[in-house]
Amino acid sequence: MSRQPLNRAAILGVGSMGHGIAQLLAMTGTEVTMVDINEEILTKARQKIQWSIEKFVEKRTIRKEDAETTLARLHATTNFEEAFKNADLIVEAAPENLELKKKLFAQMDKVAPKHVILGSNTSTLSITELGKATNRPDKVVGLHFFNPPQMMPLLEIIKGAQTSDETIRFALDLAKKLGKTPVLVKRDVRGFIVNGILAAVFNEAFWTVERKEATKDEIDAAMKYQAGFPMGIFELADFIGLDILNSVAKEMEEAFGARAKACPIYQPLVKAGKLGQKTGEGFYSWSAGRPRIQFELADRFDPNRLHTMAANAAAWLVHEDVATPQDIDTAMKFGTGWPSGPCELADKMGIDTVIKNLNELHAKHPEPMYEPCPLLIEYAKNGWLGKKAGRGFHKYK
Ligand SMILES: NC(=O)c1ccc[n+]([C@@H]2O[C@H](COP(=O)([O-])OP(=O)(O)OC[C@H]3O[C@@H](n4cnc5c(N)ncnc54)[C@H](O)[C@@H]3O)[C@@H](O)[C@H]2O)c1
Repeated sequence: MSRQPLNRAAILGVGSMGHGIAQLLAMTGTEVTMVDINEEILTKARQKIQWSIEKFVEKRTIRKEDAETTLARLHATTNFEEAFKNADLIVEAAPENLELKKKLFAQMDKVAPKHVILGSNTSTLSITELGKATNRPDKVVGLHFFNPPQMMPLLEIIKGAQTSDETIRFALDLAKKLGKTPVLVKRDVRGFIVNGILAAVFNEAFWTVERKEATKDEIDAAMKYQAGFPMGIFELADFIGLDILNSVAKEMEEAFGARAKACPIYQPLVKAGKLGQKTGEGFYSWSAGRPRIQFELADRFDPNRLHTMAANAAAWLVHEDVATPQDIDTAMKFGTGWPSGPCELADKMGIDTVIKNLNELHAKHPEPMYEPCPLLIEYAKNGWLGKKAGRGFHKYK
């Protein structure tokens, strides 16, 4: 248990994510100050929270009296210093820009009392770099909520190079208090767990279409109806936003080189401003709502191709001591709604099959991204071939 108190929190930036995080903290008993650059944004954030809380009351998730108490716990200001001075925790959810976030972390550090923990909701930026912008890198931690934070059950907790164990304990306790399932990202790698694995899966789906080995409709139908994913891969890409995918892909390629070689397939769409659901068009047209994924095409693509790439990405995370197989599976199930995690899928497929699939892809397309992670080779050498052998990423009785 952490010894750090949590009576009052400040949320810096209350846009799509920040207002949901503010709501979540207020609903679980913390006094919250919302901080943003102007009054209009703060008013909008409060309105969105009010709407969301009313939905919770309608669905009888919370009582009317609790809704009122929750709203009374929410305060708002454009005065950063005032908010930072009185908080035990500050969660930054400002736009995804390293220079801006570094500036904000330096400002928080200057004003907030020494015991205050500084969290960032960044999707992929370096927690270590944010820590370096302060004189308290031990108290800087990644708190990566998923959209919408009031509903999504996962919290990725990211340890920067200097984040202390005490701060991690605080973050784990916070997850519990908020009713979230935490996973620990032990090393500050780009993409953390969920976005790292998703990036590998997106890339393979994109390369497959780029090389004309399958169509987007075939891949989406197979992943939705055969593999049981909640959405097709291209549908999900549109839902997330192709501009966001593009910046994550760039970060990943910069960090991992050819192993994360980004496919250019969506660049013309990005250039044309067709960014997915939010602009009404991306890979699909969204003018009439969610695209119809055709069931008839479901057997024209083998989902194991994408499961193989997810397994290799998961193996790298385990090999580089970023996360445990257990946490990787939890993260993908709770963060994206996959029916099974990539390590479970690999164990079911067989580690030998994963390696064979990678070798076949590599023979066809000699690219580093298809080289099996050394961890998979080691597992195979040990005879840890997955479920059938009683041991793979996981142990089976
Ligand atoms: N949107 C998502 O699905 C999602 C999911 C997980 C994590 N994230 C991460 O959460 C963070 C916020 O993303 P978002 O989608 O909520 O963005 P957003 O643009 O909706 O909200 C950002 C908020 O920050 C405010 N802001 C801008 N400049 C500021 C400044 N100098 N100081 C304080 N506030 C400022 C804006 O007014 C806005 O209200 C990003 O780091 C993003 O990567 C986003």
